[in-house]
Parts: sequence; C-alpha cells; structure tokens
Amino acid sequence: MSHAEDNAGTRRDFLYVATAATGAVATGAAVWPLVNQMNPSADILALSSVEVDISGVEVGTQITVKWRGKPVFIRRRTPAEIDAARSVALVDLVDTAAENANIADSADASDKNRTLDEAGEWLVMMGVCTHLGCVPLGDGAGDFGGWFCPCHGSHYDTAGRIRKGPAPRNLPVPTAVFMNDTTIKLG
Ligand code: FES
Repeated sequence: MSHAEDNAGTRRDFLYVATAATGAVATGAAVWPLVNQMNPSADILALSSVEVDISGVEVGTQITVKWRGKPVFIRRRTPAEIDAARSVALVDLVDTAAENANIADSADASDKNRTLDEAGEWLVMMGVCTHLGCVPLGDGAGDFGGWFCPCHGSHYDTAGRIRKGPAPRNLPVPTAVFMNDTTIKLG
C-alpha cells in the first residue's frame, strides 16, 4: 500500500469514528456511569458546590450543567407545563415521594414539592434516569411531555416524576437554592 493510500485509509477510519460519535450524541442515550470512581470524602463533597447563571434561560427551555460529575437539568417551565404537573393526582404516580433534597424525606411528590420556587417555574433535578443511569431526553419528550429515557423506555412528566417504564423513582432534586434572581447554587 502506498503512503497516500495509507493516509486515505486512516482518514476514512477517522470519518467513520466521527460519524459514529455524532450518532451517539443525537440519540442522547449515553450511559452515565453510576459508579463514582473518585469516591471523594464527605468533606470534599460538602465543598463542591457550583453557582449557575440562569439569566439566559428562557421560558420553555432548559440547560444542563455538570455537577459532581453528573448532569443536572435546570428547566424554566411554561405555564402549560406547570398546569399539567399540578393537575396530576398523587394516586396516579409511581413514586409518591418528593425525592427533593431540600425538603423533608416524608414530603409527597406533589408538584409544589418538586420545584425551587413557589410559582413552580424552576425545576432543578439530576439528569440521570433512576433505572440504570442513562441521561433522559428533555424538551417535552415522552408520553407525559417531560423527559424520556430511550434506554429502556421510561417516561417522566413535566415535574420529572416517573409515570411509565422501568424506572422506579422520580428524578431526584439535588440540594439547590436561589442566590439571587439570576443565580442558582447547587450543593
Ligand atoms: S436507564 Fe432509563 S429506562 Fe433504563
């Protein structure tokens, strides 16, 4: 094989790999490792908080930030999303616990116990499917207009509560607080 052919082969291989990687991103179904290999001490974890500028997040959009090695979804919900979440009866939920680190463990999964503000506009939660750890797709995905995990078909509603599929728990709300109108602190 000539040197030129050799190069062409290498380039093709590279293009193939690049295309495959793009495909993986498009599905959004990348597995997020559940195992924390670093296993930092509690002291280090306590210190690892991040402040997120949310001034650019429009109603009906979300951002994903990485915190403690995992994705966190910060969504600014529309009035329709809030209404949809608030009209759901607790008996229709798979997981009736709030799964919110900011309130009592005994709190139920009603919508007001899931959001960071009273009006229910800001939903902050871990972007890790509670089944086996994939990153769910957002922006109205799934049968309940919230998030959908394509790995095994888990559907979450507009409050991030599991409604259908194998995932056992609502997407957890991490420790989070508003520092001011445009900044949320995680951790
Ligand atoms: S990891 Fe999400 S449905 Fe299995």
